[in-house]
Amino acid sequence: MAKVLIATEKPFSAIAVKGIKEVFDAAGYETVLLEKYTDKAQLLEAVADVDAMIIRSDKVDAEVLDAAKQLKIVVRAGAGYDNIDLAAATAHNVVAMNTPGQNANSVAELVFGLLVYAKRNFFNGTSGTELKGKRLGILAFGNVGRNVARIAKGFDMEVLAYDAYCPADVIEAAGVKAVASQNELFEQSDIVSLHIPATDETKQSINAALVGKLPKGGILVNTARKEVIDEPSLLQLMAERTDLKYVTDIKPDADADFAAFEGRYFATPKKMGAQTAEANVNAGIAAAHQIVDFIERGITKFQVNK
Ligand code: 3PG
Repeated sequence: MAKVLIATEKPFSAIAVKGIKEVFDAAGYETVLLEKYTDKAQLLEAVADVDAMIIRSDKVDAEVLDAAKQLKIVVRAGAGYDNIDLAAATAHNVVAMNTPGQNANSVAELVFGLLVYAKRNFFNGTSGTELKGKRLGILAFGNVGRNVARIAKGFDMEVLAYDAYCPADVIEAAGVKAVASQNELFEQSDIVSLHIPATDETKQSINAALVGKLPKGGILVNTARKEVIDEPSLLQLMAERTDLKYVTDIKPDADADFAAFEGRYFATPKKMGAQTAEANVNAGIAAAHQIVDFIERGITKFQVNK
C-alpha cells in the first residue's frame, strides 16, 4: 500500500484535505498529514517512509530527499516550484511535478484586492482613485497573468503585457496590448503586476531602473515571489520617488524598512494568493490525481525535473 504525506506548513482548507484523502482512499493508499509544522525535523521524520508527498511552498531540499528513502514523487500543489531542489530530486530518482493553473484565479483575484486597497489609500478615509481607465501592465502572461487580464477588463482597465516566452500574437488574441520589452511595459503602465517565476534569470530583476519608469503615482503589485525584487534598489527608489506605491503578497526581507513608507506600502502577513478553498481544492486534488496517475500508470505529464 502506497503511503502519501501531505506536508503543508500553511494548511489547505479542510474541504481540500478531505477531497485529497478521498482520491487516495479510492486508490487504496494511506494518507498522512503534517500541517503547521514549525521545525524542519518534523518534516524529516514525516518523510522517512512515504512513497509520495504533496507540498505547497514547503522546502524540499537535498536533506529532505535524503531522509525520504522511499519517495518516488513530490507534487507541489501550485505553480511555482522554486522550493524544490530539482537537481537533488533527479539525483534521488524522485519525480517532481507542479499543478499549473489550478490556483491561478485565486492569485489573480488577490491582485485586485491589493490594488483597490492601494488606490483607496489603504482605507485611511482620504479620497482615493479608481482602477477604471488606468493602464495595467502584466509582466508574464502565464496562467495567473491571463486571469489578471480577464478580471482587469471587468474593471474597464487598459491592459498591456510583456512575456519573454509568449508570442505577441497570443497576448493580442486575448485582447491585451503586447509590448516589446519590460522597459516599455513599465513606461506605458500606471500599475505593473508581477507574474514571473523566481529563476536565475528573474531573481532581483525588478530594480529601481525598471520600476522608476512607472509614471507619477505608479503602483507595483507583487503576487509572484520576493526573490524577483532587488529590495535595496527598490527601497532607494521609493525614498526618492515619494509618489510610488508597493503592495505585495510576499513579505520582503526588508519588511521593516519598506514599512517606513507609511501609506505607500503594504504586505500581507502571510502569502494569501492561493489561500482560498477553491484553489486548495483545485490544486490539492489535481496533485492527488497526478500522484495516483504516476504510481499506477507512470504518467509524468506535469513533471518539472525532466
Ligand atoms: C504558487 O506558486 O502556486 C503560489 O505562490 C501559491 O503558493 P502557496 O501554495 O504557498 O500559497
